[in-house]
Amino acid sequence: MGAIYQPCRFSSLLLIIFAWMFINLGKPTKAAGIFQPSKWTLAHATFYGDETASATMGGACGYGNLFVNGYGTDTAALSSTLFNNGYACGTCYQMQCYQSKACYAHVSYITITATNICPPNWSEASDNGGWCNPPRAHFDMSKPAFMKFAQWNAGIVPVMYRRVPCARRGGLRFSFQGNGYWLLVYVMNVGGGGDISSISVKGSKTRWISMSHNWGASYQAFAALGGQALSFKITSYTTKQTIFAWNVAPSNWAAGLTYSTRVNFS
Ligand SMILES: *[C@@H]1O[C@H](CO)[C@@H](O)[C@H](O)[C@H]1NC(C)=O
Repeated sequence: MGAIYQPCRFSSLLLIIFAWMFINLGKPTKAAGIFQPSKWTLAHATFYGDETASATMGGACGYGNLFVNGYGTDTAALSSTLFNNGYACGTCYQMQCYQSKACYAHVSYITITATNICPPNWSEASDNGGWCNPPRAHFDMSKPAFMKFAQWNAGIVPVMYRRVPCARRGGLRFSFQGNGYWLLVYVMNVGGGGDISSISVKGSKTRWISMSHNWGASYQAFAALGGQALSFKITSYTTKQTIFAWNVAPSNWAAGLTYSTRVNFS
């Protein structure tokens, strides 16, 4: 008798499965590895340099010329509390000028990338000039970026900020320094979280070699990699997502050159 009921039980099970699939259709799936914006948080912003933003070039992240490398003038130096020893290099923020007469009411927010550190100055009080002293969260913006959301002569304004995914055009870029026995790479144009927790390099004749964090967004390997095509394995600091960039540089790679890839975080 049991055999007669079996098909019936089987089809009700199928019905339940289909119903479950239907119910879940269209539900947003929170895919692992995709960077989610953080909550809005209060901080303050000042600016450094002049309207040319030349003072923002060559910052502590190692991006060099920000125009050449795609960051432009929408950048900020972060107080050491936010800078996180350089692991915050490349992270992106929406900033709202907040409850100051100097704010431009028609600007809802601007978006900036962290490219530099604003070091503490212990000869100034943290509420009177020592804006970047720990534990303050502070953004020392390029003057052109500051001028987009506030009157520059205010000097300092309160802001609400949140981390957002970095929208980057194209793939990761690797700028090389060093030599055949010491490779130093600056990783630029990082999408998604914008940050990096670890990198490995693989020569065409080597295994994966873990690179150590040098400073800012630069990583190094003390290994004989000269004359070999190089691939990289990069892990995001925030999302922990890992991506592979195969054959980024040809075997005749050279220090001083920047190599582009077609892969990036989202
Ligand atoms: C730190 O603050 C003092 C006092 O205002 C100032 O004279 C000095 O130039 C500042 N140092 C730096 C590195 O900005």
